[in-house]
Amino acid sequence: MVSMRSTPFDSFHPGDPVEAALVNLARAGVKGSPSNVRKVANQLIRRVPEGISDAEAFRIALHDAISVVPGNELLMSGESLPMEAGGAGPLVDVDLSPDGSGLVLPPKVQAELDEIVLERKRDSLLALRGMTPSHSALLSGPPGVGKTLASRWVAEQVDLPLVSLDLAAVLSSYLGTSGRNIRDVLDFAKSTPCVLLLDEFDALAKARDDDSDVGELKRIVNVLLVELDRWESRSFLIAATNHAQLLDPAIGRRFDRIINFPLPGLRERELLIADKATGAVDTAIILAIAEITEGSSPSDLTRLIERAGRRSILYEAPFERVLLTELISASPASGKKRDVIWERLHREFGLSLRAIADLAGVSHPTVSQAIRRIEK
Ligand SMILES: Nc1ncnc2c1ncn2[C@@H]1O[C@H](COP(=O)(O)OP(=O)(O)O)[C@@H](O)[C@H]1O
Ligand SMILES: [Mg+2]
Repeated sequence: MVSMRSTPFDSFHPGDPVEAALVNLARAGVKGSPSNVRKVANQLIRRVPEGISDAEAFRIALHDAISVVPGNELLMSGESLPMEAGGAGPLVDVDLSPDGSGLVLPPKVQAELDEIVLERKRDSLLALRGMTPSHSALLSGPPGVGKTLASRWVAEQVDLPLVSLDLAAVLSSYLGTSGRNIRDVLDFAKSTPCVLLLDEFDALAKARDDDSDVGELKRIVNVLLVELDRWESRSFLIAATNHAQLLDPAIGRRFDRIINFPLPGLRERELLIADKATGAVDTAIILAIAEITEGSSPSDLTRLIERAGRRSILYEAPFERVLLTELISASPASGKKRDVIWERLHREFGLSLRAIADLAGVSHPTVSQAIRRIEK
C-alpha cells in the first residue's frame, strides 16, 4: 500500500507496477498531459502486471480507452498551433479533411501504403500481442511522383488531419529559432493525433556555410532521431525527400518504413491519363500517349492534361485533339506510337501534314512517311 505522505514527491518507484502506474497516471492527469497518460497506458499494455484476472481483456479495454481521438477543436482554434517566433503566423499547414483521391501508384508502393492503413485499422489486433502499429515512413523519389498526395491519402484513410511542415522553409530562417520551431511542431504532433508531414526532409542534410550552423543542425537532427526512436503518440510521422541520397543512412534507419516512389511505369501512365482526361479519348490513343510519355512524372502528365482541358473549353475544340497537339509539340518522341498519334491527328481530326510537321518540329516528308507506315 501507498503510505500517506505529507510532502509532494516527484518520482515514485514502488515495487508494485500497478501502484506505480496509478501514481504516474494521477500525475499525468493533473498536468493535463494526454501523451504521458498514453505512455503509462502503453507500458501497461506491453507488460500487463500480475494479478490482473484477464490480461487480454485488460489490454483491449486499455487500448480502446486511449484510442479516443479528441475532437478537432484543438486544431480548429488555431491558437494551439505552433507559431513562428515573433507571431508571424503558424509554422505548420493544417488540412482537416485531406483528400488523396486520384492517387495512382505502382502496386508495390500502393501495398506499402495500404499496410500502414491496415495496421492502424487493426491496431486492437496488434495490441492483443502487445504490439503497436508502425509510426513513421520515409517517402523518397523525384519531384512530382505523389509523395505529398500519398501523405494526404494516408491521412484521409486513417481519418486524421494532415499537418505539414516545410523543413526547407523552417531551416532557411535563423537556425537558432528553427531548432525550437521544429521541437514545437513535434510536441504539437505528439499531443494532437494527426499525420505529420515533414516535407523537404533532405534540407536537414544540406551543408551550412557556418561552423556554428553545422553544430545547431546536428542538434536538430538529434532531436528528430530521438523523437523517432521513442514516438509513443498516435500520430503518424511522414518525411518526404527528393534526395534520399543526401541523407545520413543513420537517419533512414530510424523510420519504420522507407518507401521509394519511382517514376510511373507504362501501366500507371495509362491509368493516370485515363483518370485525368476530362474529355473522351480513344483507348488505343491513351496507350499511345502512355508509351510516348516515358520518363514523365505524374505531375507533368497532370499538368499537360489539365492544360489541354482548359484549352479545349476556351477554343471549343475536341479534348483529344487538343491533348494530342499539345503532346506532339511537347515531346520529341519517336517510334511507332508517335506515328499512331500523327495518323490520328491527320485522319480523325483533319490536321494537315504540314501542320503536324510544324507542331512536331520535323519535316513534311517525315510525317507523310510515318503516316504511310501506319496505314500499311
Ligand atoms: N502518383 C500520383 N498519382 C496521381 N496524381 C499524382 C501522382 N503524383 C503526382 N500527382 C499529381 O501531381 C501533383 C503534385 O504531386 P506531389 O504529390 O506534390 O508530388 P511530390 O510530393 O512527390 O513532389 C499532385 O497534386 C497530383 O495532381
Ligand atoms: Mg511534395
